[in-house]
Amino acid sequence: MTRAGFVAGNWKMYGNLVQNQELLAAIVLGIPSLQNASCAVCVPYPYLAQAQSVLKGTHVAWGGQNISQHHQGAYTGEVSAGMLTDFGCRYVIVGHSERRTLYGEDNQMVAEKFHSAQEQSLVPILCVGETLAQREANETEQVIARQLDAVIGLVGVNAIKQSVIAYEPVWAIGTGETATPQQAQDVHAFVRNRIAAHNSEIAADIQIVYGGSVKANNASELFAMPDIDGGLIGGASLVAAEFISICFAAQ
Ligand code: G3P
Repeated sequence: MTRAGFVAGNWKMYGNLVQNQELLAAIVLGIPSLQNASCAVCVPYPYLAQAQSVLKGTHVAWGGQNISQHHQGAYTGEVSAGMLTDFGCRYVIVGHSERRTLYGEDNQMVAEKFHSAQEQSLVPILCVGETLAQREANETEQVIARQLDAVIGLVGVNAIKQSVIAYEPVWAIGTGETATPQQAQDVHAFVRNRIAAHNSEIAADIQIVYGGSVKANNASELFAMPDIDGGLIGGASLVAAEFISICFAAQ
């Protein structure tokens, strides 16, 4: 893998102050440094200050799991990109399938969130992926093309350079059913080619990571594929030993 590896944990709506402290401390201890790879944890908003205080000055970055597309205003319950930067965040996940399906985020809204993140110098981790029904109907590539094109259409391909793309097949999320390395590779190559149609240099450089039931025992074979540069990790990011070994697999 010529590109640097990248692994991010997506804690989703799990954790509490006590558990987080233990988990973060163990991760810091377990990842004193990485060769040609980096890692981050995306925590629930209330724990950003905690993540910042434990992770500052370490090799582990932190970020949020979602942002509003707006900068400020009467949007009760929403959190802006600027608020995340106030807490030292480097990353934010946008367009996770749980946001798309449970909270009605469409491709346009995800593109606006991507833009909003970059305006505040956050690195968006843009999630794309198909449902099982879409895969069975042979629509995987069309679905992902639409998700990607909406973002490129709004921000332009140059902006894509400052982002990470996460391919997360919805049918593999939290199900224990991982895409095979070849299935994932095929979609990663599709994403890279689609970007290459605009700019081959950006396509060659961009980190495309895989998410969906990645564990310590399957990370290495997934990350060994030529277009898979690391992972976006849900359940296994809540277990220090699992997460640490996944991060090392991305080196
Ligand atoms: O964003 C990460 C994710 O959705 C994958 O979750 O639990 O299958 O690793 P999990």
